[in-house]
Amino acid sequence: MSWVKVCKDESLKPGELFEFDYQDKKILLVKLDNKIYASDRICTHAYADLVSGILNEKEKTVTCPLHMSVFNLENGIPQNLPAEEPLKLYETKISDGEILLLI
Ligand code: FES
Repeated sequence: MSWVKVCKDESLKPGELFEFDYQDKKILLVKLDNKIYASDRICTHAYADLVSGILNEKEKTVTCPLHMSVFNLENGIPQNLPAEEPLKLYETKISDGEILLLI
């Protein structure tokens, strides 16, 4: 695993779903309360891209746009069916104003 540069910290607006592709990985990033959450972007139930989902900033969840499973961004766990498998999470950090992702 290695740290990969995503974008400038200031480019990631709080409360927006942000997509980042790296090799074969499709990643979802969200900045909430000055913390950056990163997970796989494709729903674990079927093929839906969570960047088109609905973010709940207060609950720190994203809702799949296809069958409405709600995923907790802090632990990746779905809170309702039909999704049963958690999203894979990625560690993030900010260095010299750049967001880095451990992939
Ligand atoms: S594809 Fe996301 S809940 Fe079905």
